[in-house]
Amino acid sequence: SARSCHMTQRTLVLLKPDAVRRGLIGEIIGRIEAKAGWTIAALELRTLGLETLEQHYGEHRGKPFYEPLMAFMSSGPVVALVVEGERVIEGVRQLAGPTDPIAAAPGSVRGDFGTIVRENLIHASDSEESAIRELKIFFPGLS
Ligand code: PPS
Repeated sequence: SARSCHMTQRTLVLLKPDAVRRGLIGEIIGRIEAKAGWTIAALELRTLGLETLEQHYGEHRGKPFYEPLMAFMSSGPVVALVVEGERVIEGVRQLAGPTDPIAAAPGSVRGDFGTIVRENLIHASDSEESAIRELKIFFPGLS
């Protein structure tokens, strides 16, 4: 089956509080859904607590953007999704664009809708190792 193919992956995607506040979740999920063969395996609207955020962003503790990032990410609900499919880890990162929205090309989510580095609309796991770690934090019950 497709599930046993090694290129079929799962990634954690967060539509950040700015995306929810600005009414962009349909737009962004639409771009993900439009990719051939990708499916949404889980989806939930939730407000993240500091404990979850510390687990998720712990590697950045001590960096100058860390405290403002925690405050921003807990400032309102996010949409957490598990996306599954062919090369989905690299693919969603590509669809999102680079961290700085001004450096992001038009056509990417950040390039089309972002201006502020912190309020960059979307998170997506950056490697298979990160995806496994992050999926356990956000969707521990997922088989
Ligand atoms: S690093 O330092 O190279 O590891 O940074 P990076 O992996 O690109 O991003 C770390 C996460 O912090 C968010 N963030 C910022 N990064 C850099 N600078 C500023 N000012 C900043 N503000 C927030 C950035 O979006 C990354 O989170 P995710 O959720 O993965 O987008």
